[in-house]
Amino acid sequence: MIDLVTMILVSLEYGSLVMDHFATYPLLNGLTIPRVGFGTSQIADGEPTAEAVIAAVKAGYRLIDTAARYNNETGVGMGIRACGLDRSELFVTSKVWGTERGYEKTMVSFEASMDRLGLDYLDLFLIHWPACESKYTDWKEQNLGSWRALKELYAAGRVKAIGVANFMPKYLQPLMDDGMVPMVNQIEFHPGYMQKECVDFCQANGIVVEAWSPLGRRRVLDHPLLNELAAKYEKSVAQVCLRWCLQHNVLAIPKTVNPERLAQNLDLFGFEITDVDMARIDAMPEYGYSGIDRKFSAN
Ligand code: A2P
Repeated sequence: MIDLVTMILVSLEYGSLVMDHFATYPLLNGLTIPRVGFGTSQIADGEPTAEAVIAAVKAGYRLIDTAARYNNETGVGMGIRACGLDRSELFVTSKVWGTERGYEKTMVSFEASMDRLGLDYLDLFLIHWPACESKYTDWKEQNLGSWRALKELYAAGRVKAIGVANFMPKYLQPLMDDGMVPMVNQIEFHPGYMQKECVDFCQANGIVVEAWSPLGRRRVLDHPLLNELAAKYEKSVAQVCLRWCLQHNVLAIPKTVNPERLAQNLDLFGFEITDVDMARIDAMPEYGYSGIDRKFSAN
C-alpha cells in the first residue's frame, strides 16, 4: 500500500500536472531542489548582482546559482539579504574553482566563499571542474581530496547537499566508489548538446542533472527546428529549450538580467512538448556547443 502511494506521488511529482515554477526534484539525501534556477555568471559583483538576485526572487526564482569563479558572491549575498525572503526559502549554490582542488585548498576556498556571501550555510556546494586525466597524473587524488572536503562540510552541516559540475562518468565513478554519490552534476546541456551518456549515467544513479547554458548562451536561439516548434507551441525559442530540459528531468539554470525574459524563463509549466517533438530536438546534430570543456579538459 505504501509503495503504491509512493509510486503515485513520484509519478505526480515527475508528471506535468503538478508542475509549477515552485516544483522540485528530489535529491539523494531526501531534500529537494527547485526545477529552475537563476544563473548569475557574468553579472558584475556588487549592486548589479544584488539587483539581479532581488529581481529574480521577485519573479519567483528560489534557486540562486553562483561560484567563486563568477567573482560575484558578495553581490549574491547582498541580494539575498535584501530580497525580503527568509534565507530558508532560498536554495543557494556555490562552487570551488579548479585552482583550489584538493582537501586543504577546497576547505579554504569554501570559507572564503562563505565570507563573501555572508551566509551561515550553503544549500549546495559543487566542485566546478574535475582534474582531468590528460593533464594531471594525480587527477584521482585531486578530485578525491576535494570530495573529502565536501563530504566533511556536509557532515558538519555547513552545506545541505554536495555535488559536482562538468564531471563525466569516468570522473564521477571514483567519487561514488569512495562511499558517497554526488547529489548533483551541473553540465552544459541544451538542444544540440545534450551529453546523453552522462545524463543517462547520472539519472540511473539518482544524480540530479543541472543544465548550465540551457540556451547555449543564445547560440541555439536561431536554430530553424527550435523556431518552428516555438511557433507551433506559441512560446519563445528559449521557453522551448527550457521546457525540453524539464521534460528530460534536467534542472535548467538560465541567466538574464532582463525583467521580461526573467519572467518568461519561469513560465514553462503551461505547455508540453510532444514525444515526437522531443525526439526531433534530441536528434539535432551538435549545435551551439561552447567548447569550454575542451578548454578546461573535462574529458
Ligand atoms: P539577456 O541577459 O540579455 O537576456 P544561457 O543561460 O544559456 O547561458 O544564456 C544566457 C544568454 O541568453 C544571455 O545572453 C541572455 O541575454 C539570453 N537570454 C536569457 N533568457 C532569454 C530569453 N528568454 N530569450 C532570449 N534570450 C535570452
